[in-house]
Amino acid sequence: QPRVFSGVQPTGNLHLGNYLGAIVRFVPLQDQMPTIFSIVDMHAITVWQDPAELMKQTREVTAAYLAAGVDPKKSIIFNQSQVKEHAELAWIFNCVARMGWLKRMTQFKDKAGKHAENASVGLFAYPNLMAADILAYRATHVPVGDDQKQHLELTRDIAQKFNNDFADRIKELGLGVPNPEPTHEAPDEIYFPVTEPMITGPATRIMSLRDGNKKMSKSDPSDLSRINLTDDQDTIAKKIKKAKTDPEALPSEVDGLEGRAEADNLVRIYAALANRTKADVLTEFGGQQFSAFKPALSELAVEKLAPMTDEMRRIMDDTASVDAVLRDGAERAAAIAEPVLHDVRRIVGFLESR
Ligand code: TYM
Repeated sequence: QPRVFSGVQPTGNLHLGNYLGAIVRFVPLQDQMPTIFSIVDMHAITVWQDPAELMKQTREVTAAYLAAGVDPKKSIIFNQSQVKEHAELAWIFNCVARMGWLKRMTQFKDKAGKHAENASVGLFAYPNLMAADILAYRATHVPVGDDQKQHLELTRDIAQKFNNDFADRIKELGLGVPNPEPTHEAPDEIYFPVTEPMITGPATRIMSLRDGNKKMSKSDPSDLSRINLTDDQDTIAKKIKKAKTDPEALPSEVDGLEGRAEADNLVRIYAALANRTKADVLTEFGGQQFSAFKPALSELAVEKLAPMTDEMRRIMDDTASVDAVLRDGAERAAAIAEPVLHDVRRIVGFLESR
């Protein structure tokens, strides 16, 4: 049975990359299959979070989901820590995943930097928790930005190793479903689906406005590098005006963007905001200077983001209804994850006597 799961960390500075690369892409999926969207507070604490800020930012991401059009009647929206099955399954996956797999994760290397000895154990094991988020619902489709690709490959590896290690047991308990991709190494019945990453469209990798070779990120020390979802109109216009570019005019064809990372990024942002292709945008703006393109981009960004920012503010003022959405979502999420963990405990061989 198809099901979507995705998550966003409540770590502040929610930006245009999070919005275009993930959150807006959630909206149309709601009408295609069951969807679950989480605010992953347990992931957030892998690096230090001020407790009061964490609560505020959890509500802020919830407000961003709602303002973008994620509908709590169609989708399940909840914060991760309220459904304890995530932590439980993550522990089991800590015992499935291999040290070598995690050591290859580039995001850990980037985040831990030169001081890996001082990084939390949670930061190292983070991808196992992410696999647990997805597989606690046996989700099949995961819409994310390009930076999460490696983590999703690990999720697939964990699902496959679990399915293989416990193949006989899964069959014996009658808990398997036919494997859609049987090979001579893979069992013909599996418990966890092998998840499909959904990394599509022009916005899966939005870059910093100050450096076209760095991704736009919540943690970049320069606020000019990103457009925050809470920025007002003047700030958005100022940041686009100051965005790094090159001296050439825009090309008329997509090929002409090669080797021009900053130009490519601005065209990509325009395309994603306008819901058009890059080729289409270049047909309109090819031959024009950035002095003409930037004001057009600003205007579009403000037109698309201002209503959503206003709505986010309005929603955040009503803490009680945000919390009510999360409470209802957590109950509905738990109703799916609890039976999965019940199965998993039996598969692994945990004795249940109460
Ligand atoms: P996070 O919180 O860093 O980012 C949330 C989403 O935004 C995407 N994203 C971007 N997309 C385009 N351009 C960018 N510059 C950009 N920066 C971020 C991310 O790819 C992501 O889709 N590990 C995840 C959260 C997570 C999760 C999960 C996701 C935890 N469990 C289970 C999916 C399924 C993260 O840190 O995202």
